[in-house]
Amino acid sequence: MRYSSIWTALVLAASAVAVPSPKTSLRVKESIAAPRGWVKRDVAPRDLRINLRIALPQSNFPLLEQHLYEVSDPSHERYGAHLSQAEVNELIAPRPESVENVKAWLAAHGIHQEDLSHSPAGDWIKVTIPVGLAEEMLDAKYHIWEHSDGDTLVRTTSYSVPEHLHEHVELIQPTTLFSRFRGMKTTSHFVQNKAPSAATTDAPAINVPSASNGQVDASCNNTITVTCLKELYNAVGYTPLANTGNHIAVTGYLDQFANFEDLQLFFADQVPAAVNSSFNVISVNGGQNNQSEPGGEANLDTQFGFGISHPIPATFYTTGGSPPFIPDIGTPTDTNEPYLDWVDFVLSQPNLPQTISTSYGDDEQTVPFSFAQRVCNSFAQLGARGVTLTFSSGDSGVGDGDPDPATQECFSNDGLNRTEFLPAFPASCPFVTTVGGTVNVPETAIFFSGGGFSNFFAQPSYQSAQVEAYLAALAPGTFAGLFNRSGRAYPDVAAQADNFLIFFEGQPTDIAGTSCAAPTFAGFVSLLNDARIRAGMPSLGFLNPLIYSLKGAGFNDITTGNNPGCGTPGFNATEGWDPVTGLGTLNFGELKGLIV
Ligand SMILES: *[C@@H]1O[C@H](CO)[C@@H](O)[C@H](O)[C@H]1NC(C)=O
Ligand SMILES: *[C@@H]1O[C@H](CO)[C@@H](O)[C@H](O)[C@H]1NC(C)=O
Ligand SMILES: *[C@@H]1O[C@H](CO)[C@@H](O)[C@H](O)[C@H]1NC(C)=O
Ligand SMILES: *[C@@H]1O[C@H](CO)[C@@H](O)[C@H](O)[C@H]1NC(C)=O
Ligand SMILES: *[C@@H]1O[C@H](CO)[C@@H](O)[C@H](O)[C@H]1NC(C)=O
Ligand SMILES: *[C@@H]1O[C@H](CO)[C@@H](O)[C@H](O)[C@H]1NC(C)=O
Repeated sequence: MRYSSIWTALVLAASAVAVPSPKTSLRVKESIAAPRGWVKRDVAPRDLRINLRIALPQSNFPLLEQHLYEVSDPSHERYGAHLSQAEVNELIAPRPESVENVKAWLAAHGIHQEDLSHSPAGDWIKVTIPVGLAEEMLDAKYHIWEHSDGDTLVRTTSYSVPEHLHEHVELIQPTTLFSRFRGMKTTSHFVQNKAPSAATTDAPAINVPSASNGQVDASCNNTITVTCLKELYNAVGYTPLANTGNHIAVTGYLDQFANFEDLQLFFADQVPAAVNSSFNVISVNGGQNNQSEPGGEANLDTQFGFGISHPIPATFYTTGGSPPFIPDIGTPTDTNEPYLDWVDFVLSQPNLPQTISTSYGDDEQTVPFSFAQRVCNSFAQLGARGVTLTFSSGDSGVGDGDPDPATQECFSNDGLNRTEFLPAFPASCPFVTTVGGTVNVPETAIFFSGGGFSNFFAQPSYQSAQVEAYLAALAPGTFAGLFNRSGRAYPDVAAQADNFLIFFEGQPTDIAGTSCAAPTFAGFVSLLNDARIRAGMPSLGFLNPLIYSLKGAGFNDITTGNNPGCGTPGFNATEGWDPVTGLGTLNFGELKGLIV
């Protein structure tokens, strides 16, 4: 069915169906103030088509969460007994009455079974309809919104559903979602034509007791290579296998494309054994990998993530649907919800990479809570299936997504403009492993390392002991009112995040950001999975219950540095867990001894 052609008929029919009855009385489902920076422009064209997604409540998410924690807790008898795709889908399937009620409502608006598509578990219903029809169904008013940096979106600040559907619909998007998922890299440190790593200094090696052979090459204090990371994190000499069924992946969004020629230059320079090997590209939602437009972020993630884990088979997911959205073309609007497209896609796959790294995120407060919770719960489904998800913690300390502390605006989004620290999402999701940043050898926290406390998600019990110890040691009244002591605290871990030598447009290039840290940590997790799978053990899966239970073993505690933002010095890296570097950076050799 083509909605554009039947739209007029529907408009004419609408008055006939609008019989006043309790069933058709609409009640507000969600209403927000547009986040700072967005300005309302024209009304959206009524015939512009949007991809509407309707989330039905998952019947048994609490039980899924219980399974997740049991199979991820090393002291539990079910540790490692990950769930199958079918088992997960059964737990999150909507109740039949939710499906029936939502379908009846759609049918009343001329939308029938054949127009719908469903997520594998049936917990999402998707349909492409004109804005005019969405406005009718949702008692909403869509406008074109423009951000001060030029991005445009078609959104409404409020939507309603019939009274009787409130219990059967968790959320509908695109409606109130204004977030833009930026690549988390600090462009201020993006320097092209940096001397290749061969030009090292003659300075004596730096003594680092936890490193391989107790030493790290002096050049690593200025330039990070794959060899530096293997020395520093005690993994020199570990050789993984290509054919154990182990797999690593990184995600790409926002037209960030990973370049094959740059990869070969990188391998020739840093991982000679990997020359001529490559990664597999999987396109999600029409994502491209245009070799004429290499992306610094995508090159970084693939070069380091796959350089560390070579020869473990590797995948680059390129997800389409990125801004800028141009509202006058005749195709359906992109929804600017790339995580959902990606997570829908991977959840539909029977076999998944055991390790997946993502270096994108946005301020938590720009994401509607209902949406953040739903996406976070999707990450729990991946964890239950044995996947480790690493996310970068953000590049602006305790502040907002603006990497320049001078222009940071740490304002609450509730219309009151309160000053507060701004946590990042998905970094704040309790079901992912969030990676902060360090610099130099020996390591210290890097100033931009994102860290803090969620306003959406409560502190998960796996981190209570460490986080409460950190909070107890803070001087009374420290940053009172600026952060939420009861929220999920992050990062969980850290890794180097400055002076990375990548290849970009054929040139050696210096790059920085927690975007360096997430694929680095993931690369080593993939090596740990190699060791486990070769020993006949299941993959590590959701990592946090394990790593917090080790009470510091397997990690190098980072105890210096802080993460300023919002006009404050931010938090300090301290002994034990802290909201700058988490539990610290990994000691691969020691950790492997503990888990295999
Ligand atoms: C590493 O670099 C930092 C910053 O440039 C410097 O302060 C420190 O002395 C260097 N460390 C060593 C061991 O050279
Ligand atoms: C890579 O492939 C090229 C062209 O086939 C070949 O000449 C070269 O020896 C290969 N290098 C390695 C390290 O396998
Ligand atoms: C790839 O990028 C180039 C350079 O921007 C552009 O001319 C070309 O159309 C793009 N190709 C595709 C398939 O989008
Ligand atoms: C909050 O800031 C916005 C944008 O600068 C401004 O329009 C609004 O009036 C402010 N609200 C309050 C309560 O100060
Ligand atoms: C603090 O976090 C909790 C979740 O732990 C949340 O329920 C509460 O609303 C948050 N408070 C604020 C002021 O955001
Ligand atoms: C960080 O450490 C400095 C120096 O010891 C101290 O003055 C400051 O209060 C600490 N900040 C926090 C948030 O604990």
